[in-house]
Amino acid sequence: MISARKLVPATMILLLVAGCGPPLPPSKPLSELNAQEMRGYHVYQAECARCHYANNVHSLHGPGLQGLFKLKYLPSGAPANDDRVTDVIMNGHGVMPAFGNKIDQQQLNDLMAYLHTL
Ligand code: HEC
Repeated sequence: MISARKLVPATMILLLVAGCGPPLPPSKPLSELNAQEMRGYHVYQAECARCHYANNVHSLHGPGLQGLFKLKYLPSGAPANDDRVTDVIMNGHGVMPAFGNKIDQQQLNDLMAYLHTL
């Protein structure tokens, strides 16, 4: 049995480390993307790259999206899951424009597949 007294400091350390942004696991290399992820990469380049870096978490116009789904929370603090990210893309968020009228369902699916490789 792990005692609560040992568990609390361990959890604190984990939280601290997470908060300080440990190096993220590497994104899937472009050369290893499957056909759908590659289509999503092209959607990203066309629609998202001018405002978001894909290979780091630094801000361009919006936050860098590396490790988007590997982190528990989005930059806004919302949970990093498909529903939330789809909502941001389709309806916009803050000064980010909505893409609901710009990309179709197939492009959205491809884009989401690509975002999961980051
Ligand atoms: C004109 C610049 C611009 C474009 C183009 C753009 N974004 Fe954003 N995006 C932003 C800004 C600015 C924010 C921060 C908005 C805020 O939190 O108020 C943001 C936030 C986000 C977030 C984080 C939302 C959250 O809850 O923290 C995600 C995910 C995202 N964008 C994905 C995308 C994707 C995918 C595309 C391409 C379809 C895209 N963005 C295109 C500017 C842009």
